[in-house]
Amino acid sequence: MTAPKRLFIKTYGCQMNVYDSERMAAAMGAEGYVQTDSADDADMVLLNTCHIREKAAEKLYSDLGRLKPLKAARPDLKIGVAGCVAQAEGEVIRARMPLVDLVVGPQAYYRLPAMARGEAPAVVTDFPAEDKFDHLPPATRRAPTAFLTVQEGCDKFCAFCVVPYTRGAEVSRPAARIIAEAQGLVARGVGEITLLGQNVNGWHGEDGQGLGHLIRALAGIEGLARIRYTTSHPNDMAEDLIAAHRDVPQLMPYLHLPVQSGSDRILKAMNRRHTADHYLRLVDRIRAARPDILLTSDFITGFPGETDADHAATLRLVEQVGFATAFSFAYSARPGTPAADRTPVPRELAEARLHELQALLTRQQKAAQQAMVGRTVGVLFEKPGRKPGQMVGKSDYLHSVFVEAPEAKAGDLVQVRIIGSAANSLEGRLVA
Ligand code: SAH
Ligand code: SF4
Ligand code: F3S
Repeated sequence: MTAPKRLFIKTYGCQMNVYDSERMAAAMGAEGYVQTDSADDADMVLLNTCHIREKAAEKLYSDLGRLKPLKAARPDLKIGVAGCVAQAEGEVIRARMPLVDLVVGPQAYYRLPAMARGEAPAVVTDFPAEDKFDHLPPATRRAPTAFLTVQEGCDKFCAFCVVPYTRGAEVSRPAARIIAEAQGLVARGVGEITLLGQNVNGWHGEDGQGLGHLIRALAGIEGLARIRYTTSHPNDMAEDLIAAHRDVPQLMPYLHLPVQSGSDRILKAMNRRHTADHYLRLVDRIRAARPDILLTSDFITGFPGETDADHAATLRLVEQVGFATAFSFAYSARPGTPAADRTPVPRELAEARLHELQALLTRQQKAAQQAMVGRTVGVLFEKPGRKPGQMVGKSDYLHSVFVEAPEAKAGDLVQVRIIGSAANSLEGRLVA
């Protein structure tokens, strides 16, 4: 018997890349590759890349630079670039870095095995008509939680964003396939599924039904204790989806709802197609349906044209909503996007605004965590904690919770009383 070949995958960027990496690993598994956690002993290295900000994209080239000695010592080592940089730059990657053997865009992953065998072109970045996942075997990793991509691509064309170009037009996977995949995951022991999409609440079934309907159908799967979804656009929060937060106990009380800015002028320049007030009213409706829901968001500071007054409006919106946590970034001009040609805000100013915003968001995060102390919440254990006898898992509200539970195992869903709050996690005690 020949020894299995080893595949090392490094994943950058969003959860959709994490999901894709698992599916690629499964596809290469069928070709006799097993996963390894280091490039040093790998027969193939696959970098699943992100193009969202300049820093993310440049990481690829620094990592490729580091692979040069390895490739020089072992010319048989196959190096592949997947993901959004692969889609955006295609051939350019191999021109700049000849050590790269293959480049595969996110919609073409089912071609990866043929590419690795040398039976397909070295660069494939087409957008085929079919669901790419139809041709990929299911992921096999065992864990209590799983991602499930239900929607890909984006038609929104925010002025700063590369996603509509790297992932293509919005496509929803059919409900029947999603439900079948979810059933398979639950049969393998998964208790929590996070539905993924660049614009996940834009998902629609063949009969026009929306994400709320899909969530209700998934809630019917016995053994599926928790459902989450990310990332949502404010303009696609349909009434039925908001109602699902009230009606479906499996739908966790947590929502990531990016707003980017609190200034109407900047929201318009970003092509977000809603106002700050629209967002605030939406938050009110969501909280009316599920009063204990925690909200998180994404922000960009220093978008072209942003003034001090615009920035102040963002801080005001954050004060008004009160977020559990948020991702925030200084604007990064991306080639090919409409905003890339606009006059930038000085870098230092964008960074200074970012720090001010982050200080406020950190205060809110602390307050949200502190408010959990004394409450009893569900925790789904994922793995052993730092101390012996300790387990760590996520609460219903997606906080990491450390609990002394020597008898427990990963996958257990338990009731925990929160007794303390640290920088980025909570401490809890099992409720008898
Ligand atoms: N579909 C999601 C976001 C996907 S990208 C949405 O519509 O909200 C994730 C986050 O990266 C964005 O919400 C935005 O805050 C940030 N981002 C995207 N492009 C960026 C850019 N050019 N510069 C800085 N941050 C950016
Ligand atoms: Fe990018 Fe906007 Fe689409 Fe989100 S909605 S992926 S920010 S274009
Ligand atoms: Fe990055 Fe592509 Fe995701 S650009 S954020 S990996 S969709």
